Amino acid sequence: MALRAGTYASAIPPLALCNYILLQSSGQPARRRADFADMNFSIKTTSPSQAQVDLLILYSWRGEKAETLVPNNLKLQSSIKEAMTREQFRGDEGEYVDIYTKGEIEAYKILVVGLGKEEDFDLYKLRKSIAAATKKAKQFKVKKLAFVPHNSWYKKFEPELVGQSMVEGVVLGGYKFLKYKGKEEKEKNIELEDIMFLVTPNKVAGMEKGLGIGKIFSAATIFARDLINEPAAVTTPTYLAKIALDLGKKAAGQIKVKILEKEEVAKMGMGAFLGVAQGSEEPPKFIVLHTKPAGAREKVVVVGKGITFDTGGLSLKPAEHMMTMKMDMSGAATVLALFAGLTHLKPKVEVVGVIAACENMPSGKAVKPGDILTAMNGKTIEVLNTDAEGRLTLADGLSYAVGQKPQAIIDLATLTGACMVALGQEIAGMWGNDEKLNDKVKKASEVVGEKLWHMPLEKEYKPLIKSDIADIKNIQTGKYGGAITAALFLEEFVDKIPWVHLDIAGPAYEESETTLVPKGGAGYGVRTILQYLLDLGK
Ligand code: BES
Ligand code: ZN
Ligand code: ZN
Repeated sequence: MALRAGTYASAIPPLALCNYILLQSSGQPARRRADFADMNFSIKTTSPSQAQVDLLILYSWRGEKAETLVPNNLKLQSSIKEAMTREQFRGDEGEYVDIYTKGEIEAYKILVVGLGKEEDFDLYKLRKSIAAATKKAKQFKVKKLAFVPHNSWYKKFEPELVGQSMVEGVVLGGYKFLKYKGKEEKEKNIELEDIMFLVTPNKVAGMEKGLGIGKIFSAATIFARDLINEPAAVTTPTYLAKIALDLGKKAAGQIKVKILEKEEVAKMGMGAFLGVAQGSEEPPKFIVLHTKPAGAREKVVVVGKGITFDTGGLSLKPAEHMMTMKMDMSGAATVLALFAGLTHLKPKVEVVGVIAACENMPSGKAVKPGDILTAMNGKTIEVLNTDAEGRLTLADGLSYAVGQKPQAIIDLATLTGACMVALGQEIAGMWGNDEKLNDKVKKASEVVGEKLWHMPLEKEYKPLIKSDIADIKNIQTGKYGGAITAALFLEEFVDKIPWVHLDIAGPAYEESETTLVPKGGAGYGVRTILQYLLDLGK
């Protein structure tokens, strides 16, 4: 749309460009993302009544009056008031009312979105409120939107974080995986084109920066979502390795990628990883990505669980539990997406990404309950349940990480159903051996609105994973506290290096749609780790 005099045009490239770079570097076939390929974000100082858009989005606390929403337009105030009364709109969270403006202002329609009580509001709710409005806009089949951030948001949060959260809300809430849908379904999905954020002039600077960060964070997140949503027939270990190699190629000089084949991995002594891989026809791949920007002071290794399909192995999963197990490489997807994001963000931190990628299949060659495997650090593991395979592959992934001599190790793994029992679908469990590192990761998660909860690494439970004939066993004695004993198992492989384990079994994959994530892969953890690395590089 044409710019009006007095407006401020953003210098940030459209998301299309960001995403183009990410998708290109992912090696996926150049395809048009129907949902937001051409989304163009801008910050403008246009007054809301002057914005030439299809939809103007206003926000209201619970009980807020129409007069404060549009202070300078009496006529519009009375239309909004009337609509609010007619529809008994109170401004509760998730409530909305839409109003045709009938030419009273430039926008064709107004959507007032309820925010609930001000004291309960946080950055997570901010993203949700933006995502909810984005979804409504798509339902209304409109393409040009202007959001008017609530004035009080700037008092509560830094303008930079408001900008970042708003872009994330739009992109993450509007995401759909339509690759395998027919033409009709693809056409039904409305492509948003112009997204404006209308602000007062003194708010522009910080928001502008936030918008740029939000674009990279959200583009990286949907990069992970796309990978998770692909069927396991596509996302084999070989495919993940190719994605990593392509990332390295596109960011030549910045990202180095190494793929270790089975023979090499065997020579290095990764018996636990290879034990899981041995039942499958697909060759395992040990994937290492590395970036070392000039001026980096700290080195962080991020390890992602990369089981490209988890049947349970000979301890076969029942059909209902196996249905979604293409998602068992969500941690790996997060690591790959992280590097896609890092090519643009370039924080001054040395980062190593590690993925021990394989399938967990039953076959005549598969590892059997009772077998004993030796991990790279020399510890022996009695495998009593082949469905507790993630900790076996991570044992070698973490041992490798220790060899890198980093200042911190973070792993992300769809590790246990027990963690979902404890914390539900939306919250990841966090365990760690270093309070400072725990706090940094927790803080980053709060900034980006990815929910996690600090859980105890309870030493009293250690005897539960002691094996009769090996050093440890891969399942515990008894049935309670399974997410904790899994974390204790992993701790055996991190030496004394500061380490955080995120069990993302719940939030990695949505079984029913939420405001910010449709059914399927969530890309959980991408934004938390990117934020952590940005903070670390400051
Ligand atoms: N990949 C699963 C964990 C999982 C379950 C992730 C549901 C996402 C949703 C993991 O490999 C597994 O099967 N864990 C077992 C461990 C048990 C055998 C000790 C589990 O949680 O049941
Ligand atoms: Zn399993
Ligand atoms: Zn698994």
